Amino acid sequence: MSVHIAANKGEIAKTVLQPGDPLRAKYIADNFMEEVKLVSQTRNIFYYTGLYKGKEISVGASGMGIPSIGIYSFELYTEYEVDTIIRIGTCGAYNTDLKLFDLLNVENSASESTYAKFAWGIEEELIKSQGNVFDNINQTAEKLSLKIQPTNIHTSDIFYRKDEDLPAIATKYNCSAVEMEAFALFANAQYLGKNAATILTVSDVIPTREKISSDEREKALKPMIELALETALQ
Ligand code: ADE
Repeated sequence: MSVHIAANKGEIAKTVLQPGDPLRAKYIADNFMEEVKLVSQTRNIFYYTGLYKGKEISVGASGMGIPSIGIYSFELYTEYEVDTIIRIGTCGAYNTDLKLFDLLNVENSASESTYAKFAWGIEEELIKSQGNVFDNINQTAEKLSLKIQPTNIHTSDIFYRKDEDLPAIATKYNCSAVEMEAFALFANAQYLGKNAATILTVSDVIPTREKISSDEREKALKPMIELALETALQ
């Protein structure tokens, strides 16, 4: 048991898929995995461990934002000896070159957040995905004939803002989209010498205000889930 996860030691697999939403973790466990066990439900942040094509994996939520994923990913890496976390989430596209449902493989996350600096003394505002998972995702996508774009993204603490101009950091690092978690995940993994990657589906296009509807979400996220699961087999 860790501070925020009730699973016993040994009940979490070496590879964890981490959506933001606890119900998405449940959806993956119910629809894609076998012999599933619910191993934690502290704060309704569900963690499940089971088999995907015979390999043990866990799936559990990060919650929203840097502080939340900072806590869950740290406890997974340090208390449960997790080697690899693959975040699967959604993002807002900063330009119309990206379309709804596009899949992104995050190469680097840029952030104004002080999380990496004050947690680990990492001064950089751009942090790479860690280990070889980024490459594995690209190779797995090719095998599955799924189109995925490697890209830099902006990890922001802000969802609602008055100013619609592109944030300076997004321009500086050529970020095509924004989400709210990858930076802390990559910072934890870098500090601890672990593997971390982030796959995102474009759920909204900020300049045009287009959005995936809630009905479309389940279908929209299926390719990303399959890609993450197939990558976890490697
Ligand atoms: N995740 C999905 N869409 C987003 C947006 N527009 N801003 C931040 N995070 C997001």
